[in-house]
Amino acid sequence: MAITRKSQAEIAKMRSAGRIVAEVLALVEGAIRPGASTAEINALADRHIREAGGIPSFVGYIGGRRYNPDDPRAYRWASCISIDHEIVHGIPGDRELRSGQVVSVDVGVIWQDWNGDGARSFICGGPEAATPATAGLVEATRLAMMAGIGAARPGNHVGDIGIAVEAIALERGYGVVRGYTGHGIGRDMHEDPAVPNFRTRDRGIRLEPGHCLAIEPMFTLGHEETALMPDRWTVVTVDGSLAAHFEHTIAVTPDGPEILTRV
Ligand code: MF3
Ligand code: CO
Repeated sequence: MAITRKSQAEIAKMRSAGRIVAEVLALVEGAIRPGASTAEINALADRHIREAGGIPSFVGYIGGRRYNPDDPRAYRWASCISIDHEIVHGIPGDRELRSGQVVSVDVGVIWQDWNGDGARSFICGGPEAATPATAGLVEATRLAMMAGIGAARPGNHVGDIGIAVEAIALERGYGVVRGYTGHGIGRDMHEDPAVPNFRTRDRGIRLEPGHCLAIEPMFTLGHEETALMPDRWTVVTVDGSLAAHFEHTIAVTPDGPEILTRV
């Protein structure tokens, strides 16, 4: 599909969607504590999105660009909650969080037909509850996301984002997940172009004002190879190593990147 440049009015709607995403992530941060279930966290996310006038975009999502809430294969929750060696797309349920776990929460919101998508990894009980290695992984993934965002300016190419993200992983010795990427975003949650978190042979398209992207590095403490669990959603590291995931939706502006998923 063609890569579109969004107008100021369209970006304003994505900013509203993005604000709701950021509010949800701030809200769940306070709820991530030992003993809380992932279903409870998801319920908070779902309720806040709807109260704010948004639609949880993950509900009814099948894959690629396909949506059909009636399809039995469709995702049915407002958020994905992935724990420890789970990288992305973990399904909320009865599981209770434990101190020191890496809890990655991903949420998508549609507001007046426009999308926002964001994620953060939290440590249950706060950074002090984790080993330094775990806290370092989480912090490096966040920094890599910010480095990728910094590369999203007119004149750069989409490939420069992956180069910036991967540089942090190479410098600090983390695995970079290659099987999943960031993406264009707008009227659809997933649009072209793909936004890899690593250097590719092709530099990709040249970034221009109005391009909107979800930049979302996934780092691991071990190998980068992924596997899909039997639930057909949860993506895990094959070697069982811990993973972290951060995501912001951004707009490329003449002055550089604007983060849309913020309060
Ligand atoms: N938000 C994810 C992404 O960053 C996709 C979620 S998949 C879903 O692209 F099934 F949960 F919706
Ligand atoms: Co995304």
